[in-house]
Amino acid sequence: MDNEIISILKKFVQQQKTVFGIDGYYGIFPLKKELKVGKEIQTYNFTSSVKDKVWLLKNLNLQVHQCKNCPLYTTRIKPVFGEGNPDAKLMFIGEAPGYEEDRQGKPFVGKAGELLTKIIMAMKLSRQEVYISNVVKCHPVKIPDPNLRNNDRPPSEEEINQCLPYLQQQIEIIQPKIICCLGAIATKALTKTDQPISLLRGKVFKYYKNENILIVPTYHPSALLRNPKLKPDVWQDMKLIMKYLNSI
Ligand code: URA
Repeated sequence: MDNEIISILKKFVQQQKTVFGIDGYYGIFPLKKELKVGKEIQTYNFTSSVKDKVWLLKNLNLQVHQCKNCPLYTTRIKPVFGEGNPDAKLMFIGEAPGYEEDRQGKPFVGKAGELLTKIIMAMKLSRQEVYISNVVKCHPVKIPDPNLRNNDRPPSEEEINQCLPYLQQQIEIIQPKIICCLGAIATKALTKTDQPISLLRGKVFKYYKNENILIVPTYHPSALLRNPKLKPDVWQDMKLIMKYLNSI
């Protein structure tokens, strides 16, 4: 069979595995393959194009909208998949949607989101340039009524475990250089480290599924709203991220 057709078929199968999770996780991007063409060895790079990333994210978003893996789908108004640049070098990952995010279906659009937007702008970036998502895609509530305010709760271990594969697939599709984990829940989910965020922030970890992706934990914007004295620490962490982004 023609080499080009083989490479297209391989790419298609890899994308299906990413989208539909057939026999689990498959390291798909970037994949280099050497093929002998006549006497020459040619290197084929299966790195995903932005168009592929958009398509893969759209399919994954559809799965999230149909998800019934945990009871949160019964009380949420809208799942919050994530938004931003599908080809982002930097991702911000929070905990779970709150009241406002549940209504709009977008991440970080409440009070904490306003602060996150200011932080991103202070980094001379925009929300459109980065990608923003959460560990859990549906709003965890204390009382099963999405119309109540001040009804947020942290996601349970079970909800995190059920939802984490969606985030892992988002990361695999986007292939960021660096992930900023906002708060302890995102940090634990992506580093498997269970220490207080005050000890983990500002340190650099390697993502356990892909060592090329670095993780920098920092405080959650909600923590900054409660305790503004934490702001200099967060700014120090953002400067570390900017330094790394400018060096690549
Ligand atoms: N807090 C989060 O962790 N995520 C959001 O999307 C909003 C608030």
